[in-house]
Amino acid sequence: MGFLPFFSLETWTLLITCFCLFVTYGYWSYGVFEKLGIPGPKPVMYWGTFGRLNKVYYLADVACAQKYGRVWGLYEFRTPVMAVMDPDMLKTILVKECFTYFTNRRNLPLSGDLSDGVSLAENDQWRRIRNTLSPFFSSGHIKEMFGIMKHHSKKLTLSLRSKVQDGDTVTMKDFFGPYSVDVMGSCAFSVDMDSINNPTGPLITHASNLFNISKLLVIAIGCFPFVLPLLDLLGVSIFPKSSTAYFKTLLEKVKGERNDVLNQKLGDFLQHMMNYQSTKMHEPMNEKQRNGLTEHEILSQATLFVFAGYETSASALVFLAYNLATNPEVMQRLLREIDSTFPNKAPVQYEALMKMEYLDSVVKESLRLYPSATRLERTARETVKINGITIPKEMMVMIPVFALHRDPELWPEPEAFKPDRFSKENKQNINPYTYLPFGAGPRNCLGMRFALVVVKLALVEVLQNFVFSVCEETEIPLQMAATTFISTARPIKLKLVTRSNVSENGEKKNEE
Ligand code: HEM
Repeated sequence: MGFLPFFSLETWTLLITCFCLFVTYGYWSYGVFEKLGIPGPKPVMYWGTFGRLNKVYYLADVACAQKYGRVWGLYEFRTPVMAVMDPDMLKTILVKECFTYFTNRRNLPLSGDLSDGVSLAENDQWRRIRNTLSPFFSSGHIKEMFGIMKHHSKKLTLSLRSKVQDGDTVTMKDFFGPYSVDVMGSCAFSVDMDSINNPTGPLITHASNLFNISKLLVIAIGCFPFVLPLLDLLGVSIFPKSSTAYFKTLLEKVKGERNDVLNQKLGDFLQHMMNYQSTKMHEPMNEKQRNGLTEHEILSQATLFVFAGYETSASALVFLAYNLATNPEVMQRLLREIDSTFPNKAPVQYEALMKMEYLDSVVKESLRLYPSATRLERTARETVKINGITIPKEMMVMIPVFALHRDPELWPEPEAFKPDRFSKENKQNINPYTYLPFGAGPRNCLGMRFALVVVKLALVEVLQNFVFSVCEETEIPLQMAATTFISTARPIKLKLVTRSNVSENGEKKNEE
């Protein structure tokens, strides 16, 4: 055996066995979709199908939809995921069978302190928390918060007016990000961090940081899930601990200062939950008998409010500005609607804002092209057959919203920004399961109505003062990036022109 250098035969046998086990484990789960007769890209050992068709996962979904149709299989490392883009199946998954088979999203491991947040909670716990939070998002309550939102939209326009000279190039997120996080902080726990004037302050820093999920950790868990119990035992969390700790300390302090009766009248999210705080949570009873929220659950929901609302609303505003700058005729029509609804820059009123039809179409069309959440997900609790396709127990179903919104059979000229798709006459022809910027069914976006007010208000107030225009630094077309929520590889930069310097036809006055 002299041709086998260094090691003994036993050592070689052990090494080869380990190698074979390593390879077998890396491929073990990859036959699932072949057995189900579902097409999809070929996975690479351990790595799965990441980056096979495009490095940006939601652009890969567009490529997969073109190649494989409306149902395909992919692998996130070793985990099989079924992509479903068929509107009939989506109705069944998201609405009809939500409570029986598809109640939960993925079970996000190592979510630590946030595991009882409404978007991560499961089954009866999720239902209890969601039912407790829902009244806060009623139209009446949102209207009550309009004054707080207006306080921040005013600060946004004042800040733009003081910091931006006519025709300056602006990184849109630098203004819409702080506006969004300040609205969330004020409506969630009445803390005004004034991020608009303090853009490196702790609230915005930690709210942005919450999304910095450790890639290394995700890869380790994806390839070797058996390490999970050990990591859990060691208290490892996928959310940056410094940021979850910041929110915990802040909220404990705010909550601790609120124990008198007077505070019960405060209209913020934290107080709403405190009014439902249960004193019986530590008594033995099953989940169905419980109601209200525990102390820990209250802190998690308040953190998640900022987490779920900040980046999504800010990105919706940034892409709206981009779409308007690149489609000046749409912007002009919108300006006309704004000026006729609120003549002479009159203060924005809630009812009138909500009745603006063209504004609504513009926002909807922008969220079609750039939905803040590019994918939805649900996990099958049991094996179920839908439209002849078997979805095995524990299979994760992924709904590629970005790809669905750009399906040329559902949306003619899918890349074009055409708000009239959502006009009064046209919108009744839209199948609701082909347009999902806020998801659908009992587990849809809890903050949808709230978010639409936050976005529309800021857009109208900014457009009462400025118009957006493309400049040399505007990237066209945009290069997208693979982040948790939709984003671009480089920040979106636009030119802002003050309204007094814009003529009726939208041209800049005094331009050479
Ligand atoms: C333009 C802004 C926003 C967009 C595009 C958006 C979109 C979404 C989407 C797509 C989902 C998943 C729905 C599903 O799985 O069917 C979701 C869930 C959620 N969103 Fe939003 N969202 C926005 C703003 C907000 C805001 C401002 C809040 C809170 C104030 C919020 C709170 C939530 C919560 C709590 C969930 C989880 C609901 C549950 O699991 O029951 N969102 N959002």
